[in-house]
Amino acid sequence: MDSPAEILTRTNAPSFVNNPGLLAWVAGMAQLTKPAAIYWCDGSDEEYHRLCQQLVDAGTFLRLNPAKRANSFLARSDPSDVARVEDRTFICSTEKDSAGPTNNWMAPEEMRALLQHGQPDGSKALFDGCMRGRTMYVVPFSMGPLGSHISHIGIELSDSPYVAVNMKLMTRMGKEVYAVLGTDGNFVPCMHTVGAPLMPGQADVAWPCNKTKYIVHYPETREIWSYGSGYGGNALLGKKCFALRIASNMGRAAAGDSPASLGWLAEHMLILGVTNPQGRKYHVAAAFPSACGKTNFSMLVPPAAFEGWKVTTIGDDIAWIKPHADGRLYAINPEAGYFGVAPGTNMLTNPNCMASLNSDVIFTNVALTDDGDVWWEGLEKDGDALPAHLIDWQGNDWTPQIARASGVDGKLKPAAHPNSRFTVAATNNPALDSAWDDPAGVAIDAFIFGGRRSTTVPLITEARNWVEGVYMAATMGSETTAAAGGQQGVVRRDPFAMLPFAGYNMSDYFQHWLDMGEKLASTGARLPRIYTANWFRKGADGKFVWPGYGENMRVLTWMIDRIEGKSQGTEHVFGVSPAYQEINWSGLDFTTEQFNTVTSIDTAAWKTELQLHADLFKQLAYHLPEALRQTKERIENRLAA
Ligand code: GTP
Ligand code: SPV
Ligand code: MN
Repeated sequence: MDSPAEILTRTNAPSFVNNPGLLAWVAGMAQLTKPAAIYWCDGSDEEYHRLCQQLVDAGTFLRLNPAKRANSFLARSDPSDVARVEDRTFICSTEKDSAGPTNNWMAPEEMRALLQHGQPDGSKALFDGCMRGRTMYVVPFSMGPLGSHISHIGIELSDSPYVAVNMKLMTRMGKEVYAVLGTDGNFVPCMHTVGAPLMPGQADVAWPCNKTKYIVHYPETREIWSYGSGYGGNALLGKKCFALRIASNMGRAAAGDSPASLGWLAEHMLILGVTNPQGRKYHVAAAFPSACGKTNFSMLVPPAAFEGWKVTTIGDDIAWIKPHADGRLYAINPEAGYFGVAPGTNMLTNPNCMASLNSDVIFTNVALTDDGDVWWEGLEKDGDALPAHLIDWQGNDWTPQIARASGVDGKLKPAAHPNSRFTVAATNNPALDSAWDDPAGVAIDAFIFGGRRSTTVPLITEARNWVEGVYMAATMGSETTAAAGGQQGVVRRDPFAMLPFAGYNMSDYFQHWLDMGEKLASTGARLPRIYTANWFRKGADGKFVWPGYGENMRVLTWMIDRIEGKSQGTEHVFGVSPAYQEINWSGLDFTTEQFNTVTSIDTAAWKTELQLHADLFKQLAYHLPEALRQTKERIENRLAA
């Protein structure tokens, strides 16, 4: 006898769904979660508009003034559900060592009992009946261009229509995915619930969620189970869960143990193209931790002095990078949209981003103006007056007076949440690279790794070789931001900006990078150069010394000079950095003193820093590559000399 869920699934699945494995899985999940209905997304524009209107009617979305921002919406989340929850994120590999010391781990069978099967003591599984009273949306999506050999398909089952419409902007979402999947294709099953079942007659809230949260990955079976949150990377499962945590496992598994196969890399990196006035184009992939400048760097507008130069966006957050037969590393952006930080974005810092936000945007947790538009801290330029009145991200009145009275440490209480975001399709970006959707990807010339450090780390350093570059990336530190729950502004090690995203043992991840370099080099390939950057050094006044944003072009062109052999640089303990006169200062007043403040290397500070590298290596002792230990020793010897 078919269960009601099976009957519902089979009878209500549209004709474009022809994969028996998928149908059986959806039926099984419906049986577990017990939704009131199943809705199969087709990804059409009509569907997007209809679901957005449904969200307006439900009170989750507020339609912005169409004269200000056409077809755009504001959502306000529950105040307890505003960012990724790293302490609730789990890698459930069979062996604890496979997840490694930087990930939360639970044995798969223990986690499955908790989420799926129920506990030995008879207590109910969290997913059992979790969608009662709600609709289960079946969201088919492709990470990477549809049908490309590098792309992978996911199906997200979610009881959040907010998730469904965000996935439409963030991924290639729609019924075309089923054609690629065919009757026997593979997909990554992504289970998502806000964990807020509705009892008969119970009224819904604008942002349902649960205090209990689990963001769970089973790397061996390549499954994602997310419970309790509707926000960002916790809920849009194609992003961090799939394209980084699961994909990093796929990329390494593809290398296997064969000396010939290299596998591939899934990285927390933007990808940009930079074209010089002669038309020569380079591609750079850059890893910065969350809320440390990837989106901004990927949309950089060069200063006026750089006439004829052009920067174009391939991706703003994630890169899948694969070696090609020509010996070079090619990168694609698996996503199709941006889930970007709103605060700090304005016409001076990021005009391309502002232009991307003119229409067809979903804003979450920004403030609302009296004329039905959006506002956030840093939307005003220096010297601009603050708005006299706003509705803040929690729906309360906000005036400068109220903000002053209720702020802490003499700061105004923010009207937008510091992790408030916009969701927008990549095609809205005026600086979108013509190859952004090319299944072949773009050949990478340089990698940049950058943290947010108010002290110690210089503006830009080129590693002398691949191993030194891997060492600098592996030991990178950064001050924590509002992108994740927990304390902010504290320096922590964030290897490769992947601390919250590496889906397997961090030491093995380092080894994968080292192997990739060694194998490529052994074929005679020219490896990308590796740089470390820091836009965030502060002066005695506590202000950023480096102007950043568009001015980062000055650093980017120095890197290109290096690649073209036009710049000698000065060598120091960690690698090679520019001399003052090697940077193009045209149109910017930046003194040698200021330059020293952002580039100086303080030996005492670096001795302390090396101690933090030592702490990290102690934590990662299991499988820590010997080459990294040796590199550390060499740096220490140079520092002592
Ligand atoms: P995620 O989406 O969380 O991965 O963040 P991201 O790495 O894309 O960071 P994003 O570009 O959104 O920038 C985060 C914050 O840093 C914003 O408030 C920016 O205004 C600010 N920011 C970005 N680039 C710079 C820079 O070059 N200098 C300074 N001082 N701030 C910057
Ligand atoms: C990040 O935190 O790095 C983000 C935002 O890009 S989220 O999608 O929430 O992960
Ligand atoms: Mn990110």
